[in-house]
Amino acid sequence: MAKPGAPSSLDQAEQIPQPTNGRNTLTIKDDRTGKQYVIPIEYDTIHATDLRQIKIKDDDFGMMTYDPAFLNTAACKSRITYIDGDKGILRYRGYPIEQLAEKSTYLEVAYLLIYGELPTKSQYEKWMNDIKMHTLIHENIKKFVDGFHYDAHPMGMLISSVAALSTFYTDAKHISDPESRKLQIFRLVAKMPTLAAFVFRHSVGRPYVYPDNDLSYPGNFLNMLFRMTELKYKVDPVLEHALDVLFILHADHEQNCSTSAMRNVGSSHVDPFSATAAAAAALYGPLHGGANEAVLLMLSEIGSKSNVPAFIKTVKEGKGRLMGFGHRVYKNYDPRAKVIKKLADEVFEVTGRNPMLDIALELEHIALDDEYFIKRKLYPNVDFYSGLIYQAMGFPVDMFPVLFAIGRTSGWVAQWQEMLLDPEQKIARPRQIFLGPGLRDYVMMGKRAEEKVPKNL
Ligand code: CMC
Repeated sequence: MAKPGAPSSLDQAEQIPQPTNGRNTLTIKDDRTGKQYVIPIEYDTIHATDLRQIKIKDDDFGMMTYDPAFLNTAACKSRITYIDGDKGILRYRGYPIEQLAEKSTYLEVAYLLIYGELPTKSQYEKWMNDIKMHTLIHENIKKFVDGFHYDAHPMGMLISSVAALSTFYTDAKHISDPESRKLQIFRLVAKMPTLAAFVFRHSVGRPYVYPDNDLSYPGNFLNMLFRMTELKYKVDPVLEHALDVLFILHADHEQNCSTSAMRNVGSSHVDPFSATAAAAAALYGPLHGGANEAVLLMLSEIGSKSNVPAFIKTVKEGKGRLMGFGHRVYKNYDPRAKVIKKLADEVFEVTGRNPMLDIALELEHIALDDEYFIKRKLYPNVDFYSGLIYQAMGFPVDMFPVLFAIGRTSGWVAQWQEMLLDPEQKIARPRQIFLGPGLRDYVMMGKRAEEKVPKNL
């Protein structure tokens, strides 16, 4: 077991089973040549480049691994987030998500993800102050947001305006300077809620509300979203807490699609605002952070509890997916979904019950009892219930992925910095298996035969 507080060992890795015969190697026999290769195993993993020595002729490229969608490829060593998908475990820097959701705040969790340890009182106060110092955005950003069409998707506006921040903070390109990295991290964590609130106000045609730094991180966000003509926005403590917990639950999730995008794009040494825009774009898709939006659309299409069995039937016939169900890593109930389900009751006490909750509960009830879902280990994920809470709090459906992006920003920047400081990392650049045509000579246009273009292109 790891020693508490041991800062720089890959703690969880110490629990990886060790060989009883002391030989931590893999012996591979290439039946094409009869040659044997002994490959070292580290953390239950082999280095893909060790396979390159396996070849038939000396000038062959050597053996590669083929792993579309990275089903079984570790692209980094990380000390940030641990997930055991079979057991439904999620920990940030060793701390169980359930404890953080119950006892911590989003800003404390952000600090934990970025710096690796929970802050002391003075560290926390300084960190909160550093964030508050950067909540304002340049006035010109408002002009960008103004330029979007009235029905522009908030996520499209957020992605563009985060990318635009790189043009305001040209010092952000100094990614090797720790002070510059620190400043950009403050800016990103601080400004995401402001950008998100501005795109929301633009889409509902209301004037922008500037940050109120007397309020907490989620409280100020609610102020920028919902303040009308009152001089001081009165934050509902239940909604403030709920939003904070939702940000905590979304803060990091190891090498998911958007975090991988952050690392991959960041590995080219671009500034962190551009990398965050790429990560947010990855998050936008309905298979990732856009799923919470898709869940609500699905629930409203189903319309009533009595239509649930017919809907489940169409899913099983392959005519669509049960959005908010299934996960690449979790083959058990998503621990974040458990926390959210409890949180929903607290929120509904204030806002009134979301009528779509009954449809969601019925879907979960039927699916968890159905052979199709049991066999494929499909359980509710974080997005299944989060949208119901967001909707009850007054957010339009297309704001849901934006809320996800705010929470995930701390994880993105923590992972980005870890990638930059990792001496084993280089620019991300996968290999391919080339199956296209071999060498052929250019044919003049008049001499080309009519060829069939595949229908799916
Ligand atoms: N509804 C119905 N069938 C499903 C679903 C679903 N939601 N998810 C997976 N399956 C089936 C899939 O059809 C396949 O069946 P078969 O073996 O017969 O072909 C099997 O389960 C395995 O699916 P997969 O597509 O190979 O699994 P994956 O690991 O590539 O996909 C996923 C993971 C999250 C993209 C997928 O489960 C999905 O599309 N879920 C719905 C979208 C969703 O809720 N996404 C949010 C994920 S959690 C938040 C986040 O981290 O972004």
